[in-house]
Amino acid sequence: MDHGGHVLVVAFPGQGHINPALQFAKRLLGMGLKVTFVTAFSALNRMTETAAAAPPGLSFVGFSDGYDNGWKTSDTEHFMVEQKRRGSAAMEELVASAAAQGQPFVHVVYCILLPWVGRVAQKLGLPATFLWLQPASLLDIYFYYFNGYGDEIMKNSDDPSWSIQLPGLPPLTADDLPPFLFPSDPSNFAIALFKEHIDVITDSQQTNPNSKVLVNTFDELEFDALRSVKKLNMIAAGPLIPTAFLDGKDPSDTSFGCDLFQKTKDYTDWLNSKPTASVIYVSFGSYLVLKDHEMEAIARGLLETRRPFLWVVRSGGTDDDQGYELSCKAELEEQGLVIPWCSQVEVLSNPSVGCFFTHCGWNSCIESLALGVPVVGFPLWTDQATNAKLVQDVWKAGIKVRRNREGMVEDGEVKRCLEMAMEGEEMRRNARKWKDLAKEAAMEGGSSYLNIKNFVDELRGI
Ligand code: UDX
Repeated sequence: MDHGGHVLVVAFPGQGHINPALQFAKRLLGMGLKVTFVTAFSALNRMTETAAAAPPGLSFVGFSDGYDNGWKTSDTEHFMVEQKRRGSAAMEELVASAAAQGQPFVHVVYCILLPWVGRVAQKLGLPATFLWLQPASLLDIYFYYFNGYGDEIMKNSDDPSWSIQLPGLPPLTADDLPPFLFPSDPSNFAIALFKEHIDVITDSQQTNPNSKVLVNTFDELEFDALRSVKKLNMIAAGPLIPTAFLDGKDPSDTSFGCDLFQKTKDYTDWLNSKPTASVIYVSFGSYLVLKDHEMEAIARGLLETRRPFLWVVRSGGTDDDQGYELSCKAELEEQGLVIPWCSQVEVLSNPSVGCFFTHCGWNSCIESLALGVPVVGFPLWTDQATNAKLVQDVWKAGIKVRRNREGMVEDGEVKRCLEMAMEGEEMRRNARKWKDLAKEAAMEGGSSYLNIKNFVDELRGI
Protein backbone atom coordinates (compact mmCIF):
# COMPACT_ATOMS: atom_id res chain seq x y z
CA MET A 1 0.00 0.00 0.00
CA ASP A 2 1.33 3.42 -0.96
CA HIS A 3 1.17 5.62 2.13
CA GLY A 4 1.49 8.86 0.18
CA GLY A 5 0.74 11.54 2.75
CA HIS A 6 0.69 11.42 6.52
CA VAL A 7 -2.47 12.61 8.30
CA LEU A 8 -2.95 13.36 11.99
CA VAL A 9 -6.41 12.43 13.32
CA VAL A 10 -7.22 13.78 16.80
CA ALA A 11 -10.25 12.61 18.82
CA PHE A 12 -11.72 13.45 22.23
CA PRO A 13 -11.22 10.51 24.65
CA GLY A 14 -14.85 9.31 24.73
CA GLN A 15 -16.14 6.14 23.09
CA GLY A 16 -18.75 8.08 21.08
CA HIS A 17 -15.88 10.08 19.56
CA ILE A 18 -13.18 7.40 19.24
CA ASN A 19 -15.45 4.94 17.36
CA PRO A 20 -16.39 7.11 14.36
CA ALA A 21 -13.00 8.91 14.31
CA LEU A 22 -11.16 5.59 14.15
CA GLN A 23 -13.45 4.48 11.33
CA PHE A 24 -12.64 7.66 9.45
CA ALA A 25 -8.92 7.06 10.03
CA LYS A 26 -9.37 3.60 8.53
CA ARG A 27 -11.15 5.05 5.48
CA LEU A 28 -8.12 7.31 4.91
CA LEU A 29 -5.79 4.35 5.37
CA GLY A 30 -7.86 2.38 2.83
CA MET A 31 -7.27 5.19 0.34
CA GLY A 32 -3.52 4.91 0.75
CA LEU A 33 -2.71 7.51 3.40
CA LYS A 34 -0.61 6.97 6.50
CA VAL A 35 -2.50 7.95 9.68
CA THR A 36 -1.45 8.78 13.22
CA PHE A 37 -4.41 8.63 15.60
CA VAL A 38 -4.09 10.77 18.70
CA THR A 39 -6.18 10.87 21.84
CA ALA A 40 -5.63 11.33 25.57
CA PHE A 41 -4.13 8.49 27.65
CA SER A 42 -7.43 8.02 29.50
CA ALA A 43 -8.75 6.43 26.30
CA LEU A 44 -5.53 5.14 24.78
CA ASN A 45 -4.53 3.19 27.89
CA ARG A 46 -7.65 1.12 27.34
CA MET A 47 -6.93 0.53 23.64
CA THR A 48 -3.76 -1.52 23.90
CA GLU A 49 -5.12 -4.47 21.90
CA THR A 50 -6.36 -2.13 19.19
CA ALA A 51 -3.00 -0.42 18.98
CA ALA A 52 -1.11 -3.74 18.92
CA ALA A 53 -3.32 -5.09 16.12
CA ALA A 54 -3.29 -1.88 14.06
CA PRO A 55 -2.84 -2.43 10.31
CA PRO A 56 0.37 -1.09 8.69
CA GLY A 57 0.17 2.65 8.18
CA LEU A 58 -1.99 3.31 11.26
CA SER A 59 -0.31 4.21 14.54
CA PHE A 60 -1.55 5.48 17.89
CA VAL A 61 -0.10 8.23 20.05
CA GLY A 62 -1.39 9.37 23.43
CA PHE A 63 -0.94 12.54 25.44
CA SER A 64 -1.54 13.36 29.07
CA ASP A 65 -4.32 15.84 29.72
CA GLY A 66 -3.79 15.50 33.45
CA TYR A 67 -6.70 13.06 33.74
CA ASP A 68 -5.02 9.81 32.66
CA ASN A 69 -7.47 7.73 34.70
CA GLY A 70 -10.56 9.53 33.41
CA TRP A 71 -12.49 12.51 34.75
CA LYS A 72 -15.61 13.06 36.80
CA THR A 73 -18.51 15.08 35.42
CA SER A 74 -17.99 17.56 38.26
CA ASP A 75 -14.42 18.18 36.95
CA THR A 76 -15.45 18.76 33.35
CA GLU A 77 -14.70 22.47 33.10
CA HIS A 78 -11.20 22.17 34.57
CA PHE A 79 -10.59 19.03 32.55
CA MET A 80 -11.43 20.83 29.29
CA VAL A 81 -9.06 23.71 30.13
CA GLU A 82 -6.23 21.29 30.95
CA GLN A 83 -6.88 19.21 27.88
CA LYS A 84 -6.55 22.26 25.69
CA ARG A 85 -3.39 23.49 27.44
CA ARG A 86 -1.53 20.19 27.62
CA GLY A 87 -2.96 18.87 24.32
CA SER A 88 -1.80 21.95 22.40
CA ALA A 89 1.77 21.54 23.66
CA ALA A 90 1.73 17.78 22.92
CA MET A 91 0.45 18.37 19.41
CA GLU A 92 3.15 20.92 18.63
CA GLU A 93 5.80 18.46 19.79
CA LEU A 94 4.30 15.62 17.77
CA VAL A 95 4.16 17.69 14.58
CA ALA A 96 7.80 18.71 15.04
CA SER A 97 8.97 15.18 15.77
CA ALA A 98 7.10 13.70 12.75
CA ALA A 99 8.82 16.29 10.54
CA ALA A 100 12.22 15.54 12.10
CA GLN A 101 11.71 11.84 11.32
CA GLY A 102 11.00 12.64 7.67
CA GLN A 103 7.29 11.78 8.03
CA PRO A 104 5.73 15.26 8.22
CA PHE A 105 1.98 15.62 8.58
CA VAL A 106 0.33 17.05 5.48
CA HIS A 107 -3.09 17.45 7.09
CA VAL A 108 -4.88 17.38 10.44
CA VAL A 109 -8.39 16.01 11.01
CA TYR A 110 -9.85 16.90 14.41
CA CYS A 111 -13.14 16.07 16.05
CA ILE A 112 -15.81 17.69 18.14
CA LEU A 113 -14.89 19.39 21.48
CA LEU A 114 -11.35 20.03 20.24
CA PRO A 115 -11.37 23.45 18.54
CA TRP A 116 -7.89 24.01 20.02
CA VAL A 117 -6.51 21.42 17.58
CA GLY A 118 -7.72 23.60 14.71
CA ARG A 119 -6.02 26.62 16.33
CA VAL A 120 -2.70 24.78 16.77
CA ALA A 121 -2.85 23.67 13.12
CA GLN A 122 -3.45 27.29 12.05
CA LYS A 123 -0.50 28.44 14.15
CA LEU A 124 1.75 25.80 12.57
CA GLY A 125 0.49 26.54 9.06
CA LEU A 126 -0.90 22.99 8.68
CA PRO A 127 -4.15 22.53 6.75
CA ALA A 128 -6.85 21.09 9.02
CA THR A 129 -10.38 19.76 8.61
CA PHE A 130 -13.05 19.46 11.26
CA LEU A 131 -14.85 16.10 11.51
CA TRP A 132 -18.30 16.79 13.03
CA LEU A 133 -19.62 13.67 14.78
CA GLN A 134 -23.26 14.69 15.15
CA PRO A 135 -25.89 15.22 12.43
CA ALA A 136 -25.36 18.14 10.04
CA SER A 137 -28.65 19.52 11.43
CA LEU A 138 -26.98 20.12 14.81
CA LEU A 139 -24.12 22.15 13.35
CA ASP A 140 -26.75 24.17 11.47
CA ILE A 141 -28.60 24.83 14.73
CA TYR A 142 -25.44 26.04 16.49
CA PHE A 143 -24.51 28.17 13.50
CA TYR A 144 -27.94 29.84 13.36
CA TYR A 145 -27.92 30.33 17.12
CA PHE A 146 -24.79 32.46 16.77
CA ASN A 147 -25.96 34.10 13.56
CA GLY A 148 -29.26 35.84 14.04
CA TYR A 149 -31.50 33.38 15.90
CA GLY A 150 -29.96 33.27 19.40
CA ASP A 151 -32.19 35.88 21.02
CA GLU A 152 -35.40 34.34 19.74
CA ILE A 153 -34.34 30.88 20.94
CA MET A 154 -33.33 32.08 24.41
CA LYS A 155 -36.46 34.22 24.83
CA ASN A 156 -38.80 31.30 24.13
CA SER A 157 -37.10 28.46 25.95
CA ASP A 158 -40.00 28.15 28.46
CA ASP A 159 -42.87 28.42 26.01
CA PRO A 160 -44.16 24.94 25.10
CA SER A 161 -46.27 26.34 22.21
CA TRP A 162 -43.28 28.03 20.51
CA SER A 163 -41.32 26.53 17.63
CA ILE A 164 -38.69 27.81 15.25
CA GLN A 165 -38.20 27.21 11.55
CA LEU A 166 -34.50 27.25 10.64
CA PRO A 167 -33.52 26.93 6.97
CA GLY A 168 -33.25 23.31 5.83
CA LEU A 169 -34.56 21.91 9.13
CA PRO A 170 -38.01 20.82 10.36
CA PRO A 171 -39.84 23.14 12.80
CA LEU A 172 -38.20 22.67 16.23
CA THR A 173 -39.69 23.29 19.66
CA ALA A 174 -37.55 24.18 22.69
CA ASP A 175 -37.69 20.51 23.72
CA ASP A 176 -36.20 19.50 20.36
CA LEU A 177 -33.18 21.80 20.69
CA PRO A 178 -29.89 21.01 22.46
CA PRO A 179 -30.17 22.11 26.11
CA PHE A 180 -26.79 23.89 25.83
CA LEU A 181 -28.60 26.72 24.04
CA PHE A 182 -30.44 27.70 27.20
CA PRO A 183 -28.71 29.70 29.95
CA SER A 184 -30.54 27.63 32.59
CA ASP A 185 -28.72 24.45 31.51
CA PRO A 186 -25.89 23.55 33.92
CA SER A 187 -23.70 22.45 30.97
CA ASN A 188 -24.18 25.76 29.21
CA PHE A 189 -20.39 26.23 29.19
CA ALA A 190 -20.26 23.75 26.26
CA ILE A 191 -21.81 26.36 24.01
CA ALA A 192 -18.54 28.30 24.05
CA LEU A 193 -16.79 25.28 22.52
CA PHE A 194 -19.28 25.12 19.66
CA LYS A 195 -18.84 28.85 19.08
CA GLU A 196 -15.08 28.37 19.00
CA HIS A 197 -15.47 25.51 16.49
CA ILE A 198 -17.48 27.75 14.18
CA ASP A 199 -14.95 30.58 14.57
CA VAL A 200 -12.05 28.25 13.73
CA ILE A 201 -13.88 27.02 10.60
CA THR A 202 -14.62 30.59 9.49
CA ASP A 203 -11.01 31.66 10.10
CA SER A 204 -9.55 28.73 8.14
CA GLN A 205 -11.80 29.57 5.22
CA GLN A 206 -10.00 32.90 4.95
CA THR A 207 -6.76 31.13 4.07
CA ASN A 208 -8.44 28.23 2.25
CA PRO A 209 -11.88 29.16 0.85
CA ASN A 210 -12.29 25.54 -0.24
CA SER A 211 -11.98 24.09 3.26
CA LYS A 212 -14.74 21.73 4.34
CA VAL A 213 -16.42 20.25 7.37
CA LEU A 214 -16.67 16.45 7.20
CA VAL A 215 -19.84 15.04 8.79
CA ASN A 216 -20.75 11.56 10.04
CA THR A 217 -23.97 11.44 8.01
CA PHE A 218 -24.90 10.70 4.40
CA ASP A 219 -26.40 12.82 1.64
CA GLU A 220 -29.71 11.00 1.38
CA LEU A 221 -30.31 11.33 5.12
CA GLU A 222 -29.57 15.04 5.47
CA PHE A 223 -29.52 16.51 1.97
CA ASP A 224 -30.99 19.90 2.93
CA ALA A 225 -29.29 20.19 6.31
CA LEU A 226 -25.88 19.57 4.73
CA ARG A 227 -26.49 22.45 2.35
CA SER A 228 -28.36 24.81 4.68
CA VAL A 229 -25.34 26.91 5.70
CA LYS A 230 -23.24 27.39 2.56
CA LYS A 231 -20.47 28.97 4.60
CA LEU A 232 -19.83 25.74 6.52
CA ASN A 233 -19.34 23.69 3.34
CA MET A 234 -20.43 20.44 4.99
CA ILE A 235 -19.56 17.19 3.23
CA ALA A 236 -21.04 13.83 4.25
CA ALA A 237 -18.54 11.08 5.07
CA GLY A 238 -20.74 8.58 6.89
CA PRO A 239 -21.99 6.37 8.16
CA LEU A 240 -18.71 5.81 10.01
CA ILE A 241 -19.37 2.22 11.07
CA PRO A 242 -17.37 -0.97 10.37
CA THR A 243 -17.26 -1.72 6.65
CA ALA A 244 -18.63 -5.29 6.83
CA PHE A 245 -22.07 -3.66 7.24
CA LEU A 246 -21.52 -1.29 4.32
CA ASP A 247 -19.50 -2.34 1.27
CA GLY A 248 -18.92 -5.80 2.79
CA LYS A 249 -15.49 -6.05 1.13
CA ASP A 250 -13.92 -7.15 4.40
CA PRO A 251 -16.48 -9.43 6.09
CA SER A 252 -14.25 -9.66 9.16
CA ASP A 253 -14.58 -5.91 9.85
CA THR A 254 -17.65 -6.26 12.07
CA SER A 255 -16.76 -4.28 15.18
CA PHE A 256 -15.21 -0.94 15.97
CA GLY A 257 -12.01 -2.83 16.67
CA CYS A 258 -11.61 -0.82 19.81
CA ASP A 259 -11.02 -2.46 23.18
CA LEU A 260 -11.91 0.60 25.26
CA PHE A 261 -14.48 -1.56 27.00
CA GLN A 262 -14.06 -5.29 26.87
CA LYS A 263 -16.77 -7.46 25.45
CA THR A 264 -18.11 -9.27 28.49
CA LYS A 265 -20.51 -12.17 28.88
CA ASP A 266 -21.31 -13.91 25.62
CA TYR A 267 -24.75 -12.90 24.51
CA THR A 268 -24.46 -14.03 20.90
CA ASP A 269 -25.80 -17.55 21.44
CA TRP A 270 -28.69 -16.10 23.42
CA LEU A 271 -29.52 -13.68 20.57
CA ASN A 272 -29.17 -16.43 17.98
CA SER A 273 -31.68 -18.56 19.88
CA LYS A 274 -34.42 -15.92 19.52
CA PRO A 275 -36.88 -15.56 16.61
CA THR A 276 -36.35 -12.86 13.95
CA ALA A 277 -37.11 -9.30 15.11
CA SER A 278 -38.25 -10.46 18.56
CA VAL A 279 -35.64 -8.89 20.87
CA ILE A 280 -35.60 -5.34 22.26
CA TYR A 281 -32.03 -4.04 22.51
CA VAL A 282 -31.58 -1.40 25.25
CA SER A 283 -28.50 0.78 25.70
CA PHE A 284 -27.66 4.38 26.60
CA GLY A 285 -24.23 4.91 25.12
CA SER A 286 -20.86 4.95 26.77
CA TYR A 287 -21.05 7.34 29.69
CA LEU A 288 -24.43 8.83 30.61
CA VAL A 289 -26.00 7.64 33.84
CA LEU A 290 -29.78 7.35 34.11
CA LYS A 291 -31.73 8.51 37.15
CA ASP A 292 -33.22 5.82 39.35
CA HIS A 293 -36.80 6.68 38.35
CA GLU A 294 -35.83 6.41 34.67
CA MET A 295 -34.27 2.97 35.20
CA GLU A 296 -37.42 1.82 37.00
CA ALA A 297 -39.74 3.19 34.26
CA ILE A 298 -37.73 1.36 31.61
CA ALA A 299 -37.64 -1.87 33.61
CA ARG A 300 -41.43 -1.75 34.11
CA GLY A 301 -42.02 -1.03 30.42
CA LEU A 302 -39.83 -3.95 29.36
CA LEU A 303 -41.59 -6.32 31.74
CA GLU A 304 -45.00 -5.16 30.47
CA THR A 305 -44.12 -6.03 26.86
CA ARG A 306 -43.30 -9.62 27.89
CA ARG A 307 -40.76 -9.61 25.07
CA PRO A 308 -37.15 -10.77 25.33
CA PHE A 309 -34.65 -7.95 25.72
CA LEU A 310 -30.90 -7.41 25.86
CA TRP A 311 -30.12 -4.49 28.20
CA VAL A 312 -26.68 -2.98 28.62
CA VAL A 313 -26.44 -1.69 32.19
CA ARG A 314 -22.95 -0.28 32.52
CA SER A 315 -21.25 -0.16 35.83
CA GLY A 316 -18.03 1.67 36.39
CA GLY A 317 -18.03 2.93 32.80
CA THR A 318 -17.22 6.32 34.24
CA ASP A 319 -16.10 7.46 37.69
CA ASP A 320 -19.62 8.68 38.36
CA ASP A 321 -21.24 5.48 37.27
CA GLN A 322 -21.51 3.05 40.15
CA GLY A 323 -24.38 1.07 38.60
CA TYR A 324 -27.94 0.86 39.86
CA GLU A 325 -29.61 -2.11 41.54
CA LEU A 326 -32.97 -2.58 39.83
CA SER A 327 -35.83 -3.42 42.16
CA CYS A 328 -37.27 -6.08 39.83
CA LYS A 329 -33.95 -7.67 38.87
CA ALA A 330 -35.09 -11.28 39.26
CA GLU A 331 -38.14 -10.82 37.01
CA LEU A 332 -36.03 -8.99 34.45
CA GLU A 333 -33.48 -11.77 34.35
CA GLU A 334 -36.24 -14.31 33.63
CA GLN A 335 -37.41 -12.35 30.60
CA GLY A 336 -34.20 -10.89 29.22
CA LEU A 337 -30.46 -10.58 29.54
CA VAL A 338 -28.73 -7.74 31.41
CA ILE A 339 -25.07 -7.29 30.42
CA PRO A 340 -22.44 -4.66 31.24
CA TRP A 341 -21.27 -4.04 27.64
CA CYS A 342 -21.52 -5.47 24.13
CA SER A 343 -20.36 -4.85 20.60
CA GLN A 344 -23.36 -2.74 19.68
CA VAL A 345 -23.02 -2.89 15.91
CA GLU A 346 -22.84 -6.68 16.07
CA VAL A 347 -25.95 -6.78 18.25
CA LEU A 348 -27.87 -4.42 15.96
CA SER A 349 -26.95 -6.53 12.95
CA ASN A 350 -28.28 -9.72 14.56
CA PRO A 351 -31.60 -10.64 12.84
CA SER A 352 -33.24 -11.35 16.22
CA VAL A 353 -33.16 -7.64 17.17
CA GLY A 354 -36.51 -5.94 16.54
CA CYS A 355 -35.92 -2.44 17.91
CA PHE A 356 -33.35 -0.33 19.75
CA PHE A 357 -34.33 1.55 22.92
CA THR A 358 -31.64 4.25 23.00
CA HIS A 359 -30.71 7.65 24.38
CA CYS A 360 -30.21 8.71 20.74
CA GLY A 361 -26.50 9.50 20.93
CA TRP A 362 -25.63 10.12 17.30
CA ASN A 363 -23.57 6.96 16.89
CA SER A 364 -26.41 4.86 18.25
CA CYS A 365 -28.87 6.54 15.86
CA ILE A 366 -26.77 6.25 12.75
CA GLU A 367 -25.74 2.67 13.61
CA SER A 368 -29.41 1.74 14.06
CA LEU A 369 -30.44 3.41 10.79
CA ALA A 370 -27.54 1.88 8.86
CA LEU A 371 -28.41 -1.54 10.24
CA GLY A 372 -32.15 -1.18 9.56
CA VAL A 373 -33.39 -1.30 13.17
CA PRO A 374 -36.33 0.92 14.31
CA VAL A 375 -35.55 3.22 17.22
CA VAL A 376 -37.29 4.09 20.48
CA GLY A 377 -35.72 7.37 21.56
CA PHE A 378 -35.19 8.24 25.21
CA PRO A 379 -33.05 11.38 24.88
CA LEU A 380 -31.11 12.62 27.89
CA TRP A 381 -28.71 15.40 26.91
CA THR A 382 -26.72 17.36 24.25
CA ASP A 383 -27.78 16.47 20.65
CA GLN A 384 -30.03 13.58 21.67
CA ALA A 385 -33.44 15.33 21.73
CA THR A 386 -32.82 16.73 18.25
CA ASN A 387 -31.64 13.34 17.01
CA ALA A 388 -34.79 11.70 18.41
CA LYS A 389 -36.96 14.35 16.74
CA LEU A 390 -35.27 13.72 13.37
CA VAL A 391 -35.57 9.93 13.70
CA GLN A 392 -39.27 10.18 14.55
CA ASP A 393 -40.56 13.03 12.37
CA VAL A 394 -38.15 13.33 9.46
CA TRP A 395 -36.75 9.85 8.88
CA LYS A 396 -39.84 8.16 10.34
CA ALA A 397 -37.84 5.21 11.56
CA GLY A 398 -38.66 5.46 15.24
CA ILE A 399 -40.62 7.02 18.06
CA LYS A 400 -39.67 9.27 20.98
CA VAL A 401 -40.77 8.48 24.55
CA ARG A 402 -42.90 11.34 25.90
CA ARG A 403 -42.23 12.89 29.30
CA ASN A 404 -44.68 15.06 31.24
CA ARG A 405 -43.89 18.69 32.18
CA GLU A 406 -42.08 17.48 35.31
CA GLY A 407 -39.80 15.34 33.14
CA MET A 408 -41.34 12.08 34.35
CA VAL A 409 -42.26 9.14 32.16
CA GLU A 410 -45.85 8.14 32.90
CA ASP A 411 -47.05 4.57 33.34
CA GLY A 412 -47.61 2.75 30.07
CA GLU A 413 -45.52 5.16 27.94
CA VAL A 414 -42.45 2.94 27.58
CA LYS A 415 -44.61 -0.05 26.69
CA ARG A 416 -46.62 2.02 24.16
CA CYS A 417 -43.45 3.11 22.33
CA LEU A 418 -41.86 -0.33 22.39
CA GLU A 419 -45.01 -1.93 20.97
CA MET A 420 -45.18 0.66 18.20
CA ALA A 421 -41.56 0.08 17.23
CA MET A 422 -41.85 -3.71 17.39
CA GLU A 423 -45.14 -3.86 15.49
CA GLY A 424 -45.05 -0.72 13.29
CA GLU A 425 -44.75 -1.76 9.63
CA GLU A 426 -44.01 1.77 8.38
CA MET A 427 -41.13 2.26 10.84
CA ARG A 428 -39.63 -1.09 9.86
CA ARG A 429 -39.99 -0.29 6.15
CA ASN A 430 -38.31 3.08 6.62
CA ALA A 431 -35.53 1.60 8.73
CA ARG A 432 -34.85 -0.89 5.91
CA LYS A 433 -34.85 1.97 3.39
CA TRP A 434 -32.22 3.89 5.41
CA LYS A 435 -30.13 0.74 5.67
CA ASP A 436 -30.08 0.39 1.87
CA LEU A 437 -29.33 4.08 1.35
CA ALA A 438 -26.54 4.03 3.94
CA LYS A 439 -24.90 1.13 2.12
CA GLU A 440 -25.24 2.85 -1.24
CA ALA A 441 -23.60 6.01 0.13
CA ALA A 442 -20.63 4.09 1.51
CA MET A 443 -20.01 1.71 -1.41
CA GLU A 444 -17.32 2.47 -3.96
CA GLY A 445 -18.79 5.21 -6.17
CA GLY A 446 -21.42 6.17 -3.53
CA SER A 447 -21.85 9.74 -2.28
CA SER A 448 -19.88 9.43 0.98
CA TYR A 449 -17.20 7.29 -0.64
CA LEU A 450 -16.70 9.93 -3.34
CA ASN A 451 -16.66 12.75 -0.81
CA ILE A 452 -13.87 11.04 1.13
CA LYS A 453 -12.00 10.23 -2.08
CA ASN A 454 -12.20 13.86 -3.24
CA PHE A 455 -11.00 14.98 0.18
CA VAL A 456 -8.01 12.62 -0.07
CA ASP A 457 -7.25 13.68 -3.66
CA GLU A 458 -7.35 17.33 -2.65
CA LEU A 459 -5.02 16.89 0.28
CA ARG A 460 -2.58 15.06 -1.98
CA GLY A 461 -2.86 17.94 -4.43
CA ILE A 462 -4.37 15.77 -7.21
C1 UDX B 1 -21.65 10.96 23.10
C2 UDX B 1 -22.94 11.80 23.32
O1 UDX B 1 -23.60 11.42 24.50
C3 UDX B 1 -23.84 11.71 22.11
O2 UDX B 1 -25.03 12.44 22.33
C4 UDX B 1 -23.12 12.25 20.92
O3 UDX B 1 -23.96 12.20 19.77
C5 UDX B 1 -21.84 11.44 20.71
O4 UDX B 1 -21.03 11.45 21.90
P1 UDX B 1 -22.44 8.38 23.77
O5 UDX B 1 -23.38 8.89 24.81
O6 UDX B 1 -21.41 7.46 24.20
O7 UDX B 1 -21.83 9.58 22.91
O8 UDX B 1 -23.42 7.64 22.71
P2 UDX B 1 -23.27 7.23 21.20
O9 UDX B 1 -23.08 8.39 20.31
O10 UDX B 1 -24.44 6.40 20.89
O11 UDX B 1 -21.93 6.36 21.13
C6 UDX B 1 -21.76 5.17 21.85
C7 UDX B 1 -20.82 4.25 21.07
O12 UDX B 1 -20.47 3.17 21.91
C8 UDX B 1 -21.48 3.66 19.83
O13 UDX B 1 -20.54 3.62 18.77
C9 UDX B 1 -21.84 2.25 20.24
O14 UDX B 1 -21.78 1.30 19.19
C10 UDX B 1 -20.81 1.93 21.29
N1 UDX B 1 -21.34 1.01 22.30
C11 UDX B 1 -22.24 1.45 23.25
C12 UDX B 1 -20.97 -0.30 22.28
O15 UDX B 1 -20.20 -0.74 21.41
N2 UDX B 1 -21.46 -1.12 23.24
C13 UDX B 1 -22.34 -0.75 24.20
O16 UDX B 1 -22.72 -1.59 25.03
C14 UDX B 1 -22.75 0.61 24.20
